[in-house]
Amino acid sequence: MRRPKVARTLKALDRATGEFATSSVALVPTMGALHAGHLSLVRIARRHAARVIVSIFVNPAQFAPHEDLATYPRSWAADTAGLANEGVDLIWAPSVDVMYPDGFATRVVPDGPAKAGLEDAFRPHFFAGVATVVAKLFLQCRPDVAIFGEKDFQQLKVVTRLARDLDLRLKVIGAPIVREPDGLAMSSRNAYLTPAERAVAPVLHRTLMACARRISGGSPIARILADGRKAITAAGFALDYLEARNADTLAPVRWRADGPIRLLVAARLGKTRLIDNHGV
Ligand code: PAJ
Repeated sequence: MRRPKVARTLKALDRATGEFATSSVALVPTMGALHAGHLSLVRIARRHAARVIVSIFVNPAQFAPHEDLATYPRSWAADTAGLANEGVDLIWAPSVDVMYPDGFATRVVPDGPAKAGLEDAFRPHFFAGVATVVAKLFLQCRPDVAIFGEKDFQQLKVVTRLARDLDLRLKVIGAPIVREPDGLAMSSRNAYLTPAERAVAPVLHRTLMACARRISGGSPIARILADGRKAITAAGFALDYLEARNADTLAPVRWRADGPIRLLVAARLGKTRLIDNHGV
């Protein structure tokens, strides 16, 4: 397989995308430490465009000071090998100085789905950091489509809204969650789990599925969520939230009839924070 080009400056990026001429372009934004979930996004990107750009940028703006920016896993050699295998055309890997040069003073602060009371309630800085960097990535790479994973369900809603609200003229496409054989959603942060924690981690997905089954059966949602919260806590997690939301609007739901339902969970296992979600 041909190695993808790597651009690290805006000038190199413009030169490389200039060569794409009139071909359609798909962008897959990532923070690296790539796993099969990321690569599935690349495969979907391939189906939607003639050229695929993958960005690798660990975005300081979306980490709070107490979070894991310094220890976030980095695996450049494996990442580029994996992307070469998938036939990616270009890797956009700016440094922090290229993305946020001295004097940088503009932020994109999203509302609506970014204020749903899910991730935003526990990571208040997070979506402004994501929206700012994603808006920049869209403007830098000017893709026709961009692929985001349903793994980060609220983020997918936020960037879909962002592209629409800022008239960025690209289509945001959501991709299904890729899981380990035992159901744990793949995540770069799974690398932090100790063997004992790794054995417990699939409880999140199992609980989501059990709750989804009972909601489909018509039982009251509040009772089902209370049971789910108990099961997650009993397994040893510190629970941030387990919620049932309208899958389109992220508004809280009380009954099955309140619309298409998405169950969303975030919980900490030791030092590792895991998120997952599942449709009903
Ligand atoms: P990162 O966590 O690296 O994820 C990059 C993309 O991969 C996101 O769209 C995410 O939803 C998707 N993804 C992660 N795990 C997945 C899985 N198991 N199955 C399917 N898709 C999965 O999300 C970010 O980076 C950043 O916030 C970013 C959007 C790049 C902005 O900095």
